[in-house]
Amino acid sequence: MKVLVATEKPFAKVAVDGIRKEIEAAGYELVLLEKYTDKAQLLDAVKDANAIIIRSDIVDAEVLDAAKELKIVVRAGAGYDNVDLAAATAHNVCVMNTPGQNSNAVAELALGMMVYAVRNFYSGTSGTELMGKKLGIHAYGNVGRNVARVAKGFGMEVYAYDAFCPKEVIEKDGVKAVGSAEELYKTCQVVSLHIPATAETKNSINYALLKDMPKGAMLVNTARKEVINEAELIKLMEDRADFKYITDIMPAANAEFAEKFAGRYFSTPKKMGAQTAEANINAGIAAAQQIVGFLKDGCEKFRVNK
Ligand code: 3PG
Repeated sequence: MKVLVATEKPFAKVAVDGIRKEIEAAGYELVLLEKYTDKAQLLDAVKDANAIIIRSDIVDAEVLDAAKELKIVVRAGAGYDNVDLAAATAHNVCVMNTPGQNSNAVAELALGMMVYAVRNFYSGTSGTELMGKKLGIHAYGNVGRNVARVAKGFGMEVYAYDAFCPKEVIEKDGVKAVGSAEELYKTCQVVSLHIPATAETKNSINYALLKDMPKGAMLVNTARKEVINEAELIKLMEDRADFKYITDIMPAANAEFAEKFAGRYFSTPKKMGAQTAEANINAGIAAAQQIVGFLKDGCEKFRVNK
């Protein structure tokens, strides 16, 4: 059996070593396609792969057509919006993610970016503190929970809204659950996004939702760029000189944001929430173990195309 690791943004070497150990212990062969620059390389590499480990790499119908021997794709990470699930099901390919494995890394980055922003991007000028500020966590999944844990350490007052998570579950963590996204944004000066990119959430973070955030508002996005209505966020930031947008997923309109909102906008050059050795090890090894479990025992835990 051939297991391909196809990562345009590679794992740390220590994670690849761990993946190799799992795959070779099972008697399989590991093949690496790292830092590839065009799709043709991926289409060629998948030809004889029985299993693939990816990150944000796009697995669409064309890739699945080329992967004639493929049985399973594991997205080492949480969000699987980069995989065409319907096409995978049509090709009889199992798709899994590795929920929770990189969530601490993303949460630490979200808090780190908040500190960076309220301290005026470490310019040496006088900033503000996070302590005592109201933080709204939009979606209380694995990352949201970790953000709550770290934010409480900073002394923030933590609120959360999650359409799918019962209030009692949120409140058990000492977090105030609110009944709607509108209420969350009205209440909190800082909002951290942790929603997946789905048909319902795409473009959902819009002018109407953001306009009522309290003075000195900051939106932190370590989720997906697609959930932001960029044109409306630009309009809002034009109308509100107090509003900051901080993200590790560069918007399509990055140049416009950077030019118009200097001092209130920051984006990392590449998505880097999960870019730590620990997250790479956790998610990469979990992906390798899930592949072995699936190929050897038919284990379908974490399958997302049911
Ligand atoms: C995820 O969905 O797990 C995160 O966004 C991390 O994605 P990455 O592996 O592409 O950094």
